[in-house]
Amino acid sequence: MSIKNRVFSGIQPSGDLHLGNYLGAIRRFVPLQETHECIYCVVDMHAITVWQDPDELRRATREVASAFIAAGIDPKAHIVFNQSQVIQHAELAWVFNCIARIGWMNRMTQFKDKAGKNSENVSLGLLAYPSLMAADILLYKASHVPVGDDQKQHLELTRDIAAKFNNDYAASIAAEGLAEEFFPLTEPLIAGPATRIMSLRDGKKKMSKSDPSDASRISLLDDADAIAKKIKRATTDPEPLPSDEKGLEGRPEADNLVGIYAALSDKSKADVLAEFGGAGWGVFKPALADLAVSVLAPMAGEMQRLIDDPETIDAVLREGADRARVLAEETMTQVRRIVGFIR
Ligand code: AMP
Ligand code: TRP
Repeated sequence: MSIKNRVFSGIQPSGDLHLGNYLGAIRRFVPLQETHECIYCVVDMHAITVWQDPDELRRATREVASAFIAAGIDPKAHIVFNQSQVIQHAELAWVFNCIARIGWMNRMTQFKDKAGKNSENVSLGLLAYPSLMAADILLYKASHVPVGDDQKQHLELTRDIAAKFNNDYAASIAAEGLAEEFFPLTEPLIAGPATRIMSLRDGKKKMSKSDPSDASRISLLDDADAIAKKIKRATTDPEPLPSDEKGLEGRPEADNLVGIYAALSDKSKADVLAEFGGAGWGVFKPALADLAVSVLAPMAGEMQRLIDDPETIDAVLREGADRARVLAEETMTQVRRIVGFIR
């Protein structure tokens, strides 16, 4: 059974955080603190499914933790930690490796995209990645997971793993006197105008950490000048903005910039178009640049201040891990008994 109103989400410390991570995930983590018990994790074990330089991994782990805090997540009222400090994630992931089928993993589009033609030569961890993700979520029996649109398939797989575990071990779960739905069927939270932010250079490509072009993304550590320049140079079509959402169809770049404006101002795309319909890019882009700078620049300043004080960030992560471990161990104690491991 799920712990009602418990949220879990994770971000990989691989490369620089960008506007897609912020609008699709981190910004949406913040208001959930009012209504849910939240656990936000820097998933460093997921990051090493592709090669990471160790010093760079440490830097990026602190960067993600800083972004959580600078965005407004309270690590005292909720939990912020890095995955590798709570070893139960690896332990449950192993059990799930024995539940999930290879065919399920092979069907994951993120795996196919990342492996490309090279699927025999990527790490075994990259294939098993969704099994570790299911472990992250189910260790805490989370009811909800806020993520961007690209994680939808992984959330479906998490539900499949939960259902198969509950089913395969039904007799043992009953014998332990535990609820039939031992692992919950966790719901994704994928909503709002910014579930999929696109590259500023190409409206058909997702904004991503791995795009070789720095101009394709706004990094959360970019300064005001860089943010404004990237927005002003963003690729667009020559038409003025439409006055309703229907007019965005077939105009991916316009749709993307309107979505970014909407998400940064907590409005709907319809509201933004009601205000800017008929305006040209010479009006809309400077307005978007001002808005983006007003939201992102103060956050970048706070992130940098935190990054410059690694002892404090590391202490936050350690303290969060200590609290997460207590919850994780409760679930693992039950799982070991259900599976038949002697202790
Ligand atoms: P990752 O950087 O892959 O660990 O992603 C962290 C979070 O950011 C996940 O919830 C993703 O779905 C989300 N995310 C990544 N890229 C984008 C994007 N371009 N638009 C919206 N959300 C995104
Ligand atoms: N796979 C997610 C991504 O690439 C990161 C992630 C790992 C995650 N574990 C998670 C997200 C658990 C939500 C919940 O974006």
